[in-house]
Amino acid sequence: MGTDISSIKITKTENSKINQVDFDNIPFGKVFADHMFVMDYEDGEWKNFEIKPFQDLTFSPAISSLHYGQSIFEGMKAYRKNGKTYTFRAKDNFERLNKSAERMCMPHIPNQLVKDALEQLLTIDKEWIPENETNSLYVRPFMFATDEYVGIRPSSTYKFIIFCCPVGNYYTEPLRVKIESHYTRAANGGVGEAKAAGNYAASLYPAKLANEQGYHQLLWTDSNEHKYIEESGTMNVMFVIDGKLITPSLSGTILPGITRKSVIEIVKSWGIEVEERKIEVTEVLEAIKNGTLEEAFGAGTAATIAQIQTIGHNGTDYELPSIPERKISNRVLKFLNELKRGQEEDKWGWIETF
Ligand code: COI
Repeated sequence: MGTDISSIKITKTENSKINQVDFDNIPFGKVFADHMFVMDYEDGEWKNFEIKPFQDLTFSPAISSLHYGQSIFEGMKAYRKNGKTYTFRAKDNFERLNKSAERMCMPHIPNQLVKDALEQLLTIDKEWIPENETNSLYVRPFMFATDEYVGIRPSSTYKFIIFCCPVGNYYTEPLRVKIESHYTRAANGGVGEAKAAGNYAASLYPAKLANEQGYHQLLWTDSNEHKYIEESGTMNVMFVIDGKLITPSLSGTILPGITRKSVIEIVKSWGIEVEERKIEVTEVLEAIKNGTLEEAFGAGTAATIAQIQTIGHNGTDYELPSIPERKISNRVLKFLNELKRGQEEDKWGWIETF
């Protein structure tokens, strides 16, 4: 065992749930495909490769991930068109998973192993991949510590699982976001650039306060001064100011989004100027006021491109230009939707099909 998945045990469900799903009305993350891939890390290697019906897990209440949060995840999507399955930049997701693993003192997963596991799972559950333009199969790989030990140390055992959910849009309407100037998502030297479960837990309370004030999401700012825009928690953030695409540079506190880097590369290939740099809150507010801010949107796997309609700051709501007028984000969303389903030329080698 270790890196070769040929010993995988496959048990198919006898009770597929697929006929219970209304594929035209799928809530995000609440419907689960029939099967999941599971493997264990023990004695310094990955073993017990298995695809089996999606089911509950049984654990000791003492497993360390429940107490100290050694838990990381990824998010990617699979698409289907004319009977073929497509994945988008899965290799990049698994590379990021391994970077998160390193930061959180968790074991490396060989790329080929996880790629083979994903392809086998997606082949078994291919009927679960929606065919239409707005829906897809969200793939959730994750790893968590399983040592039964209440002292603090890196676990020596882990479980890695991939399960899938057919999904529609993560956000169903243009967003109202609030610039956060008190709480912090991530600080220098912390784990902001890892896809660690605890980052999301830490965001919940400030996000709940923003929800109570009528916002969907926060725009996080830097932890030192709350002066620079960072990200939006479920996605990276991008602005079009004076025809240029501007997005915060990766500073160690921002999640290095796969959609973020795809948008940057695509837009550059169209000859549009892109700036990855620090963006001051005041620069964005000034650009709104003087009419040079043309677009603001989030970019993420679950959200794809999520339009921002309103930005709130210190009690004032700023309305942004109307969404149909937004040339770059609408064009990039259409392009991504087509590229991911094999309908645009993939000159970057991002798409796998099987
Ligand atoms: C993703 O976009 O894949 C994420 O992990 C965000 C999550 C909150 C759904």
